[in-house]
Amino acid sequence: MNTDKSPLKSALQAIAAQVEQAMQAELQEHLAAADPLLKEVLHYSLFSGGKRIRPVLCVISARACGRDDSALYSLAAALEYLHTATLMHDDVIDHAPLRRGRETTVERFSLADAILAGDWLHARSLYLVGRLTAAAGLEVFCRATEGLANGEFLQKRLAGDPAATEADYFEVIRQKTGNLIASACALGALYAGARPEQVAALRRYGELVGMAFQIVDDLLDYTGKGAETGKELGNDFREGKLTLPLLRALAAAGPDERQAMRALIAGDRSQPAAVTQMTVCIAHLGGFRSAAATAREYIARAVQELSGLLAAPASAAHAALLQELAEYILIREK
Ligand code: IPE
Ligand code: IPE
Ligand code: MG
Ligand code: MG
Repeated sequence: MNTDKSPLKSALQAIAAQVEQAMQAELQEHLAAADPLLKEVLHYSLFSGGKRIRPVLCVISARACGRDDSALYSLAAALEYLHTATLMHDDVIDHAPLRRGRETTVERFSLADAILAGDWLHARSLYLVGRLTAAAGLEVFCRATEGLANGEFLQKRLAGDPAATEADYFEVIRQKTGNLIASACALGALYAGARPEQVAALRRYGELVGMAFQIVDDLLDYTGKGAETGKELGNDFREGKLTLPLLRALAAAGPDERQAMRALIAGDRSQPAAVTQMTVCIAHLGGFRSAAATAREYIARAVQELSGLLAAPASAAHAALLQELAEYILIREK
């Protein structure tokens, strides 16, 4: 996605458009008799410029394993439904005012609307996955959802705790983000009837991509341009999330700097000056550089998981797209 003419961008946009069409058709039919406010909330949250990474990964994974038909796009839509449900609820949990450059669903509508529309999407996604992938797929999907909720609990437990370790951080991001992206890839492969080792390799690829994706998200929360990310910067620090750049900076700090950082963490984090000071500290101590290097390592490991698919003539082009998509995640700005 370097330039508007990038072949990667065109390929991804084409798949995203197919998924979007499947969502529109699916919703038009299924929501025909639904409450008008529910329709409005769903439309607001689903069609607002999301990148569609998870459904796109599901589609490319299925293609890499030899299947591409119209129902695949409904399966992919289910992943975007679940993702959207988790975002609606996540913005409640994180007190986030902005997403995709506009008010979050909870801000634009109400708490009840965000909870209920999320529940609706959750139910619809489960139905679609169950219908299209049977018990094996449903198990993958439900385990991802369970992991996501568990990851959010773990994150909440660790909030504001300067004793939180890197191992804790990696466990949180594996559960809250790695899981769903891994499942998107595994479900595409399962839908295509792939061999168990192919499903497992794509699952591992997705988990590693997902971890890198969250590390980059956590970097952007400090260093992104608000106009690009569409979110309010500094929210992780305000919420007490000690993400990888901060943990790396704490590890590199001398006693005085560490004490100053701990005071910022324990102090009034809602003050804009606190976020600014923490950002300066992290930059000075190399926390951003170090976290970015770790994201690169995760992507390199993810790409290694594609070796089998890259070597097979029937899947090589799709696997190459998965490789490019993984590498794009490192340079994304939104
Ligand atoms: C945001 O996901 C939540 C994270 C796991 C970081 P995305 O960055 O994929 O969100 P959209 O759908 O493109 O807005
Ligand atoms: C990812 O974490 C949230 C989920 C997996 C639901 P964040 O809280 O960092 O995601 P954003 O930044 O709000 O999109
Ligand atoms: Mg959030
Ligand atoms: Mg974030």
